[in-house]
Amino acid sequence: MRHITRNTVLALGVLAAGGCSLPDDQVERGAALATEKGCIACHGAKGVSLAPTFPNLAGQWPQYLRVQLLKYRSGERQNAVMNGQAAELTREEIAALAAFYAAQ
Ligand code: HEC
Repeated sequence: MRHITRNTVLALGVLAAGGCSLPDDQVERGAALATEKGCIACHGAKGVSLAPTFPNLAGQWPQYLRVQLLKYRSGERQNAVMNGQAAELTREEIAALAAFYAAQ
């Protein structure tokens, strides 16, 4: 129920703003990226992961998610899967993905 309500509010916000630049735009961009980059295959379309070996991301702090992705990208945090996933992401894409998963 919480998810439906939030998504409805988000959709109404985007409609009301005529799709122009708002913080919610970053969440929308993150949603598109999560699909495009394949994150949803493991972490789910809503940040609830598909298997116990993949961490849930929904509702996590955006700062935390952003820092972890930057660390995977730099190699400071090591994981064979995530180092590869983060390698090609830009800072802007990382911020959008973090905003999206945090907002679920
Ligand atoms: C093939 C499965 C897979 C895919 C695809 C994948 N991940 Fe992950 N992700 C994992 C696993 C496994 C971990 C835990 C790695 C570890 O132990 O550090 C993880 C960890 C993370 C974490 C850290 C979570 C935490 O609690 O510290 C973030 C953030 C994350 N992934 C985001 C993403 C994003 C964004 C994408 C898409 C660009 C993505 N992942 C794609 C499997 C995946």
